[in-house]
Amino acid sequence: MSDSERRFMTARITTTTLQDMKMRGEPIASITAYDAGFARLVDAAGMDFILVGDSLGMVLHGDDDTLGVTMADMIYHSRLVRRGSERCLLVTDMPYLSYTTPAQALGNAGRLMREGCAEIVKLEGGAWLADTIHHLSRFGIPVCGHLGLMPQSIHQLGGYRLQGRDDESAARILADAKALDEAGAVMLVLECVPASLAAAVAKAVSMPVIGIGAGNQCDGQVLVLQDALGISARPPRFARDFLAETGSITAALERYIAAVRAREFPDAAHTPTN
Ligand code: KIV
Repeated sequence: MSDSERRFMTARITTTTLQDMKMRGEPIASITAYDAGFARLVDAAGMDFILVGDSLGMVLHGDDDTLGVTMADMIYHSRLVRRGSERCLLVTDMPYLSYTTPAQALGNAGRLMREGCAEIVKLEGGAWLADTIHHLSRFGIPVCGHLGLMPQSIHQLGGYRLQGRDDESAARILADAKALDEAGAVMLVLECVPASLAAAVAKAVSMPVIGIGAGNQCDGQVLVLQDALGISARPPRFARDFLAETGSITAALERYIAAVRAREFPDAAHTPTN
């Protein structure tokens, strides 16, 4: 391994690294993790960031949705992931109803940063969160937005299904993305929307747009770890079982990263259209 390769492998990823990757058109690879053991494997495989997602309510706790996840859960798992990862940027979800006002969001985001060692906090919602994002940014807390299929609104959305299918809802998602960008969000997760809409959003905003079930023209991809390893009880249609293809967890993670970098994942078969 050359010196520059070694430097690359050990340099900590920051929000600036991801912004530079977007500018260079280099796809960003990320995945969820919830403990130190998996975080170590994900980090060593060369992932750019780890998301400690509130999906842990479903994949670890066995719940039907993410609504039961608490601040204590997120702090605990975020801390474990930080212990296992040296290089990846750490993004941690703010749980359901933990950011209903800017003041509440600041208190809880501060705890995720201080006690959970988060480096970015992620929250679900559109333009109505602009004040909150602005408030957190003023206090040095980077924010990642989440639009499209927002699991914390699952009962309002009526199920885990493609969002932004008609012109009106697609325009709303695009407008929300622009509002979050202007409010100072440093990144956006866009879940389960048509590939053409995701591509338009990625082009329209300055922050990196990370897709999940949103085609391969975003600035990067994220997957739930258990979906990528084929061990979820109910994997979404857009997930691919990289473990079945490779036979080891490390090889599966490396295959996933390579497929993201080459924009081979997601292909048409893993991009929902209805
Ligand atoms: O909670 C989570 O894991 C997420 C991903 C589905 C993006 O938000």
